[in-house]
Amino acid sequence: MPGLVAIRHATDDDVCFMTDVFLRAMQTHITATRGYWNEAKEQAQFHEQLQLPHTRIVEHEGMRVGFFMTIERGQDIELHTLCIAPVHQRHGLGTVLMGQLVEDALARKRGLVLSVLKVNTAARSFYARLGFVLTDESAHHYRMRRAT
Ligand SMILES: CC(C)(COP(=O)(O)OP(=O)(O)OC[C@H]1O[C@@H](n2cnc3c(N)ncnc32)[C@H](O)[C@@H]1OP(=O)(O)O)[C@@H](O)C(=O)NCCC(=O)NCCS
Repeated sequence: MPGLVAIRHATDDDVCFMTDVFLRAMQTHITATRGYWNEAKEQAQFHEQLQLPHTRIVEHEGMRVGFFMTIERGQDIELHTLCIAPVHQRHGLGTVLMGQLVEDALARKRGLVLSVLKVNTAARSFYARLGFVLTDESAHHYRMRRAT
């Protein structure tokens, strides 16, 4: 397992990096959900939904390896769009990062919630291993919560 990961606020200079990571990390899952891949459309939608003040960059050994968004809603922290760059996936970084987020949520007595595409079985089992349970579902998503 890698050691700690560093988390910092995202800036305008990170937008290209995040766009590229998002498109490469999510292409398979979005294609499986929609039945087609339109990169220009996904890029535009990503930029529309990107809320820089709520977005953080994950770094490991001085390198950007991914990003995620969190939005506070009442007693819950909603985790959005966690993406680790494909070249850095399955090296334990996501697990280390989530450990830090869970610890922070516990310390602040907040719940941690997220939505995951139904086709994204890898992410679903990743979250299940971290103690998230299914609470709801919509057409394309499962809703999951980490009890605190
Ligand atoms: C899901 C994700 C955030 C996990 O981060 P990570 O750094 O790759 O995770 P870890 O290396 O800590 O992996 C932990 C476990 O998650 C599961 N997992 C992660 N990626 C997987 C993959 N591509 N296929 C199958 N299982 C996978 C495995 O159980 C893995 O354990 P293992 O490697 O011992 O089998 C990352 O793979 C990612 O960004 N994926 C693409 C984008 C995405 O799906 N984001 C989630 C949106 S809700």
